[in-house]
Amino acid sequence: MSEKIRLLIVDDIPETRENLKKLLFFENDIEIVGDAGSGSEAIEMARRLQPDVILMDINMPDMDGITTIERISSELPHVQFIMMSVQGETDYLRRSMLAGAREFLVKPFTAEELCSSIRRVYALAERQRPAAPPTAPVQAQDGAATVAPFLSPASPESAVESDGRRAKLICAFGSKGGVGTSTLLVNVAVALHSQQPNARVAVVDGDLQFGDVGVLLNLETTHSIVDLVPSVEEADAQFVESLMVTHTSGVKVLTAPSSPADADLVTPDVLKKVFALLRANFDYILVDTRTSLSEPVLSILDEADTILLVITTEIPAIKNAKVFFDVAEQLGYPESKVQLALNKYNPRDSIGVEAIQGSIRHPVLATVAEDIRLARNAVNQGIPFVSSHPRAQISQDIFRVASLLSSQQVEQKKEDVAPSKSQPKPKGRPSLFGRLFGGS
Ligand SMILES: Nc1ncnc2c1ncn2[C@@H]1O[C@H](COP(=O)(O)OP(=O)(O)O)[C@@H](O)[C@H]1O
Ligand SMILES: [Mg+2]
Repeated sequence: MSEKIRLLIVDDIPETRENLKKLLFFENDIEIVGDAGSGSEAIEMARRLQPDVILMDINMPDMDGITTIERISSELPHVQFIMMSVQGETDYLRRSMLAGAREFLVKPFTAEELCSSIRRVYALAERQRPAAPPTAPVQAQDGAATVAPFLSPASPESAVESDGRRAKLICAFGSKGGVGTSTLLVNVAVALHSQQPNARVAVVDGDLQFGDVGVLLNLETTHSIVDLVPSVEEADAQFVESLMVTHTSGVKVLTAPSSPADADLVTPDVLKKVFALLRANFDYILVDTRTSLSEPVLSILDEADTILLVITTEIPAIKNAKVFFDVAEQLGYPESKVQLALNKYNPRDSIGVEAIQGSIRHPVLATVAEDIRLARNAVNQGIPFVSSHPRAQISQDIFRVASLLSSQQVEQKKEDVAPSKSQPKPKGRPSLFGRLFGGS
């Protein structure tokens, strides 16, 4: 067995320190080198014991955890920190990350959560170390400790950045809030996976403030995209995957931050990195968005191979779709990049498909039937209707969207990838205004 992870525990409550020791008692790869009851004691012990990872309580009487982290990391930059707090207070999370904490655990947490956090931050630190051999063959044996996925060298694919892209990135964008974008996205993801069981399908909740993909799929999550922020430079594909939760369908999901206040930590650069890493290991990446042309949303739209523009037969939705096509054209997107899905479709509506196509001057890729009851039950039960009612019209329509997107994607990639080299997309996008009107 290779070296153990040297851990220092810092918490002002002796019982908590004892409980943490018990939680880690059976972990052969983690050695508790000491425990400190205050910030100043932690600083002294860190100097003396040189731990790899420090598990730090946030609320301590003399010196709080954030200040302690700042002091220790200025002296011992190689030490990794995991912050613990009683409640997931957003302000703490943000400040801890700024101070240098890599992970944030909300008490009470399980032994599994704690161990995987410790291993993850340690593995990241290992990769950062210049002396570490980049391709050391640390093969995991069958049944070897759970450390293996984190400590094994980055897989060859994980080194693949956006150039070596393999996955197809499909983003859903509603021409208006409430048209059913998130509903469509999660159902299309599950449908794609059931049509192509060998395909790896990822869902990323790009509605960073109010994302509800986790709710729509009834997922219990401990991590979200925001956990990538502190280590975005060193993160590899495995790390991103360790933050994802697997839905019963097999689809892997990277959820939005649990607090809207964290949304702005997920910058366009973070999103770009996430997509580059996911592209290496997935066949399809489906991204939900919120109706807005903010910088993060624009960066998602830029990265997408296909934008599924979701509309309904309501006039504002149709009007906004026209506006969106104009914006897409001015942003230099190829025409085939934006595909229209007409949701909540009822053949008895006064506005028909023909009229909509005439008005928007773009073909409707597919319609998805209105089914208020199934759509509502699916949300309330957290089970996508394509799984619970695969034969219903609404589900059949989704399956059709999924197969159209996957087949259309193949043709489109051939024509799109090549020209994008000779005609690079606008880079360093300062603002939507700048990009549309040539300024900056
Ligand atoms: N095809 C449909 N038929 C009936 N109701 C639908 C359909 N698609 C979505 N809905 C309902 O529309 C509402 C908004 O859906 P949601 O996916 O949250 O929209 P968005 O992400 O565009 O804001 C939800 O109540 C959802 O159940
Ligand atoms: Mg939504």
